[in-house]
Amino acid sequence: MDIKTVGIVGAGQMGTGIAHVFALAGYDVLLNDISEDALGKGIALIDRNIERQVSKGKVSAEDKAAAMARIRTTTKLPELGPTDLIIEAATERETVKQAIFEDLLPHIQPHTILTSNTSSISITRLASRTDRPEKFMGFHFMNPVPVMQLVELIRGIATDEPTYTALHDVVKKLGKTAASAEDFPAFIVNRILMPMINEAVYTLYEGVGSVKSIDESLKLGANHPMGPLELADFIGLDTCLAIMNVLHDGLADTKYRPCPLLTKYVEAGWLGRKTDRGFYDYR
Ligand code: CAA
Repeated sequence: MDIKTVGIVGAGQMGTGIAHVFALAGYDVLLNDISEDALGKGIALIDRNIERQVSKGKVSAEDKAAAMARIRTTTKLPELGPTDLIIEAATERETVKQAIFEDLLPHIQPHTILTSNTSSISITRLASRTDRPEKFMGFHFMNPVPVMQLVELIRGIATDEPTYTALHDVVKKLGKTAASAEDFPAFIVNRILMPMINEAVYTLYEGVGSVKSIDESLKLGANHPMGPLELADFIGLDTCLAIMNVLHDGLADTKYRPCPLLTKYVEAGWLGRKTDRGFYDYR
């Protein structure tokens, strides 16, 4: 099927990054969030991030202008109805995601593919609450979306082959690489990455190392571009905790127990860069 128009729910870190890469690849994008303020901030962020690419000579000023013109915004979810592909990139909470799909269902077209950018929640379960589990998939981008090459494609138990092929083609058109993952808690990337981050928090909690020494050890000792605690702040500590809880509940193994220090930081509202405080202080 020919996908031309894309509806994106959520103008946060992930939703704006996804809108950015789709618009640059020539898709018409309709970006949705609950307030004009969130949409205004989202558009300003996309503008700044494409400008970074213009200043590095990776994108021309004309292509930037064309991409920005391809992005429209709306606070009204039903206006996403006519799009060919919908990507939900809202908060990592199952009830929020389910409510969004429920609200969308009466308005979308029969051919519309529904996807979620969830980093851990069961695709099969999300799909089962819709009228089209065969046209439902996990479509998981990595942060920062304009830079990271990978997109995880996750089939639910009922996803059909044309839907998988259509999304695989979209990933190619975006200039990215698809990795196919089965629908088990946290898929591939976060199944491996989050326990590492959680272990880094335990390493801090047990006093084995300081924030600085833990991050430096992994950067200089294992060639990671960011230390695990810096990366946790970048992803958001609430998201890290939500993913650990999905792993712990879904796989019923104590090795996935979220570190109590991670829980405490989230309870304090220290969520990382987005709140200006996490393992580091950004104020
Ligand atoms: N938009 C456009 N370009 C961006 C950008 C953005 N949002 N963020 C960074 N860039 C560009 C920069 O302009 C720069 O471009 P050049 O190479 O042309 O100079 C390049 O990316 C590198 O950025 P910086 O020089 O600013 O900084 P850096 O070298 O420290 O790299 C980083 C930053 C790319 C984020 C790097 O630190 C990195 O790769 N970190 C690890 C990120 C990671 O692991 N992401 C996955 C998280 S897990 C996830 O997303 C899944 C989940 O579900 C939680």
